[in-house]
Amino acid sequence: MSADSTRVTERHFDYIRERTTPEGPLLADLKTAAAAAGIPAIWISPEQAAFMQILLRLAGAREVVEVGTLAGYSAIAMARALPEDGRVRTLELMDAHADFAEDWVARSDVAGRVEVHRGDARAVLPSLADDSADACFLDADKSEYPEYLRECLRIVRPGGLFMVDNAFAFGQLFDENPTDREAPAVKAFNEQMARVPELQSVIVPMGDGVWVGVST
Ligand SMILES: C[S@@+](CC[C@H](N)C(=O)[O-])C[C@H]1O[C@@H](n2cnc3c(N)ncnc32)[C@H](O)[C@@H]1O
Repeated sequence: MSADSTRVTERHFDYIRERTTPEGPLLADLKTAAAAAGIPAIWISPEQAAFMQILLRLAGAREVVEVGTLAGYSAIAMARALPEDGRVRTLELMDAHADFAEDWVARSDVAGRVEVHRGDARAVLPSLADDSADACFLDADKSEYPEYLRECLRIVRPGGLFMVDNAFAFGQLFDENPTDREAPAVKAFNEQMARVPELQSVIVPMGDGVWVGVST
């Protein structure tokens, strides 16, 4: 037993990756097709997907809201952790991304469990009912995370699961002059997230750092 955490190195990540339940051929093919279609490779890692699936199963989640669909990788992965009548409502601003995701959702094993909602999440989230989700995953424009979180605190039922990506600001969390324009917004959001009274939360050092919280 140790009160401190073992410092995770690149070697640990490789070790974890090699021992995680595989993503399966459809998600691997989706990534190849997305890259060929010019969609940026900014989807979550297979080990983060496996971790989120386990959290969703443990939470007994049926309804999930995602902000940021991209190619549909995380939406399909999360839908696989839901029961037959479960649903991921995933919100996407860009039609090209939504078109691609809908196509791959349709050919996936969870075609009936993913709905792509087009439009700006700032406009779409307010239309979702109170307590209508068991979990949320925020993975879009970082400057709007505070607004997405505020909306999800209303949409996700008490005791629900909150997951937010990129707490490590694309690896630039500690850079004095980060080149990524969203890094300052991530840093500011991390300070806010750490102090939300309704959430017990922790940053898990997986992928680019994922916030995991449970509302109290
Ligand atoms: C990092 S990607 C999402 C990756 C995806 N969650 C995955 O892991 O497979 C972010 C996506 O959010 C979308 N996005 C950005 N701003 C948005 C907004 N205001 N409303 C909805 N979607 C937005 C982008 O177009 C992009 O497709």
